[in-house]
Amino acid sequence: MLGASKVAWSRLASPASPRALSSAARSLLLPGSGMPALERSPPGPPSGGDERPPGDGLTETGCSAAGAPRPLSSGDAAAEENPCTRLIYQRQPALHRSKLSFGVNRHIIYSNGLSQNQQNYRYYSSCSGQQNIGIGNKIIHDLPRRVKIVEVGPRDGLQNEKNIVPTHVKIELIQILATSGLPVVEATSFVSPKWVPQLADAKDVMQVVRNIEGVSLPVLTPNLKGFEAAVAAGAKEVAVFASASEAFSKSNINCTIKESLARYNDVALAAKERKIPMRGYVSCVVGCPVEGYVPPSNVAYVAKELYDMGCYEVSLGDTIGVGTPGTVVPMLEAVMSVVPKEKLAVHFHDTYGQSLSNILISLQMGISVVDSSVAGLGGCPYAKGASGNVATEDVVYMLNGLGIKTNVDLEKVMAAGEFICNHLGRQSGSKAATALTGKVTANASKL
Ligand code: HMG
Ligand code: MG
Repeated sequence: MLGASKVAWSRLASPASPRALSSAARSLLLPGSGMPALERSPPGPPSGGDERPPGDGLTETGCSAAGAPRPLSSGDAAAEENPCTRLIYQRQPALHRSKLSFGVNRHIIYSNGLSQNQQNYRYYSSCSGQQNIGIGNKIIHDLPRRVKIVEVGPRDGLQNEKNIVPTHVKIELIQILATSGLPVVEATSFVSPKWVPQLADAKDVMQVVRNIEGVSLPVLTPNLKGFEAAVAAGAKEVAVFASASEAFSKSNINCTIKESLARYNDVALAAKERKIPMRGYVSCVVGCPVEGYVPPSNVAYVAKELYDMGCYEVSLGDTIGVGTPGTVVPMLEAVMSVVPKEKLAVHFHDTYGQSLSNILISLQMGISVVDSSVAGLGGCPYAKGASGNVATEDVVYMLNGLGIKTNVDLEKVMAAGEFICNHLGRQSGSKAATALTGKVTANASKL
C-alpha cells in the first residue's frame, strides 16, 4: 500500500516528467508533507474519460495485489484487473492537463460521468491502498448522478412567519425561484386560514403564479375542501401531509393518522379523476415534539399508505430536525422495504444542524429527491421550536461539490434568498450564501 502511495506522489514531483507538472503546479507542492497541494486546487479536466491519452510521455506505475510498485506497460492484462492500477491510469490525463488550469476552481463533469471532484477523489484515494479504493467507491460512486431539489420556501418557509408577508412579495419570491432552474417550487397551502393565517392569500398567489412555465408549483391540501379550492385557483399539482406520530397529527391537522389517511384517500380519488399529480408527506419521521421517539415501522406504514393511494412521491419529513444519520438510516431502511427508493424524498429541518449529513447519508442510500428552503426559512407553526428547512443554497453548494447535477443556478437562488431576507429584515440562514456573498458571489454557480 505504501508503495503505491509513494510512487504515485513521486511521479507527480519527478523532474524526469516535465510534462507532468508545470512550474506553477510544482510550486503548489506542500513542502515537507510529501503531499501536493492539489487537494486544495484541483487539476483541470482530463482529455477524455478513463482512457490514457496515447503518447503522453508518462511512465505509469502500478501496484501488485500486495501493493508493491512495479513498472507498467500499456495493455498489461494483470494491470487491467488491478483496481489500483486502473485508478492510476485514470489520473494521468488529469495530470497531463493540469498545467492548463491549475488553481481554477471549476465544476466540470467528465465524459465518464464523474465530476472533477469525484475524479480527483478517485485519484487521491488510489494512492492510499486498495482498502481505501473500496471506501471511495462506496462513498462517492454510489451517489446519484442527479438530484431533484424541491424548493419549499414559499410554503414551509413562509408559513411560520408571524408578520404577514404581502402577497406581491410571495409572488415575486416564487418568480425569482422559478428562474433558477429549480424543477419544483411549492407555492402555498390551501389550509384553514384560522390555522395558518400567513397563507390565507393562497388563492391570490396561485392565480398569478399558475402560468409560470418550466416549473411545478404544488400546493398543500389537507382535505377535499382545500383540493377543490386549489384546483379552482389553478393548481396543477397538490400535496397531502400525514404524520407518523398520533400526537402531531392531532395538533397539526386535528385528526388521527387513520382519519387523515381516509381524507387523503378522498383527495387522491379526486386528483386521479382530474389527472392532478399528488405528492405525500410524512411528518415526524424520527421524532415528534410531543411523543419523542417515532418508530421507523410507523413511518413505513404511513409512507406505504400514501404511496398506495397514488402519491407519485413520498417526502419523509424530520419536522423538528432532531434526526442524525444514526436515526435516519434505520428509518430509511424501514421505509425502503415497503416503498421504492425512487419514489422517496427527504425533508430535513435543520434545528440541530444535522441536515446536510442526513441528506448525504440519504443520497448514499439511493434517495435522489431533496426538499429544501431558500435561505433556510421555515418551520411548522405546530412544531414549536423547530427551525427552518435546510437551506437550498447549502444543498446546491454541497451537491455541486459532489459533482451531482441539479440544474439549479446557485446565484439565482441566492438572489431569491437575498430578496426575501431583505423583506423579512433578517440574515440568511444559509451558510453557503453568507460565505459567498461579497466574496466569490459572481462565481458561485461555478464552484
Ligand atoms: P378543523 O378545524 O378540524 O376543520 O381543521 P373542520 O373541518 O372542522 O372545519 C373548520 C373550519 O375550517 C370550517 O370553517 C371549514 O370550512 C374550514 P368555518 O365553518 O368554521 O368557517 N376549513 C378550511 N378552510 C380553508 N381551507 C381548508 C379548510 N378545511 C376546513 N382546506 C384542518 C382541519 C386540516 C383544515 C386544519 O387543521 C388545518 O388547516 N391544518 C393545517 C396545518 C398546517 O398547514 N400545518 C403546516 C403544514 S404541515 C408541515 O409543515 C410539515 C411538512 O413541512 C413536512 C415536515 O416538515 O415534516 C409538510
Ligand atoms: Mg417541513
